[in-house]
Amino acid sequence: MAQKDTFTWHNTELTPEERAAAKGQRPAVIWLTGLSASGKSTLANALEHTLHEHGHHTFLLDGDNVRHGLNKDLDLSPEGRRENIRRVGEVAKLFAEAGLIVVTAFISPYRSDRRMVRSLLAPGQFQEVHVDAPLEVCEARDPKGLYARARAGEIKGFTGIDAPYEVPEHPELVIDTSRNDVEACIKILIEHLKEKGILLR
Ligand code: ADX
Repeated sequence: MAQKDTFTWHNTELTPEERAAAKGQRPAVIWLTGLSASGKSTLANALEHTLHEHGHHTFLLDGDNVRHGLNKDLDLSPEGRRENIRRVGEVAKLFAEAGLIVVTAFISPYRSDRRMVRSLLAPGQFQEVHVDAPLEVCEARDPKGLYARARAGEIKGFTGIDAPYEVPEHPELVIDTSRNDVEACIKILIEHLKEKGILLR
């Protein structure tokens, strides 16, 4: 029978860095922002797969999915978007505290909302990545037919058409998905994460 006095209580807390170092990484939030159809979800998925193959521990938060669950009560008004980003920021922070590399894919069109998420995290943890493709390219891709509906006036307040997208002024990285294929984009992202000391192997 186990005796209580055979266990020793260690009073030291495991830090996020210690949890992450065991995985060869430093916790971070890779925040992909950009127009609808700019390639955020595609890149987020491909990045997560590549990191996973290299034995890193990740989690993906994607706008279209989160809006079906946690944030299904929110609309796409400026206030709805702000609350969407605030909640996602808090969730991303929790996962980062668990030592994970969090990849997010949200339009997040407002600078103030992105700044708010940045302020939640430790310096260097928030990596703002502008997934940049010209509006014409995004509109031509139109995988969900939403731009066509926005142009037809069926959807009001569509980002890039009749709602703003505030281009990041000082993002950590800009990736033009109209000039690089997915593989090239992932290479750029991985190099960046190594340079920033987020990937330790
Ligand atoms: S955000 O602005 O709050 O960051 P989020 O990325 O979660 O947006 O969701 C955007 C998704 O909602 C788009 O990919 C698109 O499929 C859909 N959507 C529906 N209405 C709009 C709209 N008015 N503007 C932009 N996206 C819209």
